[in-house]
Amino acid sequence: MNPHQLSGKVALVTGGNSGIGLASAHAFAQAGARVVILGRRQDAVDAAVQSIGHDAVGVTGDVAELDTHDRVAAEIRQRFGGLDIYMANAGVALIEPSPEVSVAHYDQQFATNARGVFFGVTKTLPVLNHGASIILVSSIASAKVLEGHAVYAASKAAVEAFARSWALELKDRCIRVNVISPGPVDTPILEKLGLPSAARAGLDDAMAAAIPLARMGRPGELARAALFLASDASCFVTGANIRVDGGMALT
Ligand SMILES: NC(=O)c1ccc[n+]([C@@H]2O[C@H](COP(=O)([O-])OP(=O)(O)OC[C@H]3O[C@@H](n4cnc5c(N)ncnc54)[C@H](OP(=O)(O)O)[C@@H]3O)[C@@H](O)[C@H]2O)c1
Repeated sequence: MNPHQLSGKVALVTGGNSGIGLASAHAFAQAGARVVILGRRQDAVDAAVQSIGHDAVGVTGDVAELDTHDRVAAEIRQRFGGLDIYMANAGVALIEPSPEVSVAHYDQQFATNARGVFFGVTKTLPVLNHGASIILVSSIASAKVLEGHAVYAASKAAVEAFARSWALELKDRCIRVNVISPGPVDTPILEKLGLPSAARAGLDDAMAAAIPLARMGRPGELARAALFLASDASCFVTGANIRVDGGMALT
């Protein structure tokens, strides 16, 4: 890790208290950025801030609520004056066959995964610095049909569409907009599916078997892709969708 790669930069990671977001927040901080994380659970946000160190800042709020983004943008303006890296990572997955999807489950996934990303970015635009990097987290589910993933996949397809539009809309401010599409990654999101432990083990094995590199991803491997997109190493990359999935989309 180059401790100066993001020196002088300010980064915001939504869902930065867990999994891929937490690993990315660690990576950004270790590369010299001032990091702000946003999550819903105060205790998890506090613990993450402790573990990240480097004067990380924690904010609690729900990305589905538009007020959250106004509050976060105001806090960033007041503390730092502006923002260089916005990683829209917070997301939820509710896996079930389409006939069983309730309106509440449909709305929860779109409110968090799509609306939360859309208004998170648009409401933060006034504090984004010239040359900022926006990183949106999608999923392999938008590229590959996975059982029970119809609504989740559609919410992530929306994220990819936002990225393509914004890459052009924001070009005059030299703001780059890119997507990371993880394959299955070993994070707490899998616990949140609520599967019994035997079913969970079976799911892990099935996912590993479907991945050409024959294992699930690790949060730190996604964080490396995020660091690439956050830094000048990707200065000529915009509108890209980087799959970090062990080759799963190919099968
Ligand atoms: N892990 C995978 O296999 C995988 C694969 C493809 C894509 N992804 C995507 O990667 C991203 C990160 O997932 P992960 O695997 O790291 O999951 P995770 O460990 O469950 O982390 C999700 C994070 O999102 C936050 N979050 C969820 N809903 C929120 C809301 N309404 N408002 C604010 N924060 C909210 C959570 O905060 P709280 O804990 O405080 O609720 C948590 O910090 C998600 O967008 C997910 O869809 C994951």
